[in-house]
Amino acid sequence: MVNVSEIRKVQRAEGPATILAIGTANPPNVVEQSIYPDYYFRVTNAEHMTDLKKKFQRICDKTMIKKRHFYLTEEILKENPSICEYRGSSIDAREDMMLAEVPRLGKEASLKAIKEWGQPKSKITHLIFCTTSGVSLPGVDYQCAVLLGLDPCVKRYMMYHQGCFAGGTMLRLAKDLAENNKGARVLIVCSEVTAVTFRGPNENDMDSLVGNSLFADGAAAIIVGSDPDLEIEKPLYELVWTSQKMIPNTHDAIGGKLREVGLTFYLNKSVPDIISQNINDALNAAFDPLSISDYNSLFWVAHPGGPAIIDQVEQKLNLKSEKMKATREVLRDNGNMSSACVFFILDLMRKKSLERGLQTTGEGLEWGVLFGFGPGLTIETVVLHSVAI
Ligand code: CAA
Repeated sequence: MVNVSEIRKVQRAEGPATILAIGTANPPNVVEQSIYPDYYFRVTNAEHMTDLKKKFQRICDKTMIKKRHFYLTEEILKENPSICEYRGSSIDAREDMMLAEVPRLGKEASLKAIKEWGQPKSKITHLIFCTTSGVSLPGVDYQCAVLLGLDPCVKRYMMYHQGCFAGGTMLRLAKDLAENNKGARVLIVCSEVTAVTFRGPNENDMDSLVGNSLFADGAAAIIVGSDPDLEIEKPLYELVWTSQKMIPNTHDAIGGKLREVGLTFYLNKSVPDIISQNINDALNAAFDPLSISDYNSLFWVAHPGGPAIIDQVEQKLNLKSEKMKATREVLRDNGNMSSACVFFILDLMRKKSLERGLQTTGEGLEWGVLFGFGPGLTIETVVLHSVAI
């Protein structure tokens, strides 16, 4: 007689969940940050708001962003003037755009990840899709699975409206799935399109102005599995430990509401302070069990919500400037692409580590940390173990 614990043993994987491939994609339309204030006030017919435009210029100058990619082109905006207004009733137009663009961009990133992975797509057992852009039934996880031609029995999970911490959430879920289902290969897709939030400026809404200076479009896809077939699959990072924490009494720091005008949001000025004051606790919980207390000995992948967040975390922990290099480079070249950012950073880090002839995918170091920050305020923490190159 076979008993349940024997069945469970056979169902589980042996080794840790491991990232086996990463792909990223951005829409081709790109706007340089140096000209963005002119562009933004022109396309939203707000050039008469000269003081507000000057303030926006000051904010844009401080973002440390060089360029951002957007699905919304000037032509699309001309055809959809309600999206350019501050109070334009525009949700139908936005939802129609996102229903097409969110899965399309996700597909583009996924195809790159599948190509690197080297296995047939029929071997993908689970799909987790995440976006803060748009909602539909069936969800965009379904659209993406169809676009990719995944097996109709692929097990899907759809994470809507999580915000910027969700890259960490996706890794946490993928780890549990991969380690508890022998042979599982989990495709994670984060696809973020700012057509949900873009709107004209308003003197009484600085949160919207700050968001418009930072947010951008991008998608990233990752394949996670345990016990890799080393003849075909190339491990990049092992997922060792994960956690999610809601910081008490900070629910009004970052948030959003889906309205007729699109996804409206609030961003409290205290966000960088709150994150930096809570980062030590998150690190201690993650690394005390490994007896690691020197956080400069780690490689760092932190959601680049804005430069003030990166600066304050660095200062609080006395981090060496090179620790946030990959994080800053992704912010500089892409802006804040919400949940997708941390995967862009992982991708850049492993590529740069290889280029520089370093010994591991984590800038030559063994252990690393990935942080997602977002509404709640919520912190996602993932302990990563690098792989020898
Ligand atoms: N709200 C409103 N105004 C703000 C602001 C905020 N959060 N932060 C800065 N400002 C204003 C300042 O008052 C200042 O206005 P004046 O020029 O009129 O005085 C102007 O912006 C420039 O401010 P500073 O000169 O102090 O510049 P800075 O060095 O602080 O840079 C910044 C500005 C780039 C916005 C920076 O403050 C920053 O990175 N802030 C963090 C932004 C943030 O919260 N990001 C998280 C986004 S949410 C997310 O990622 C997760 C998600 O789920 C969506």
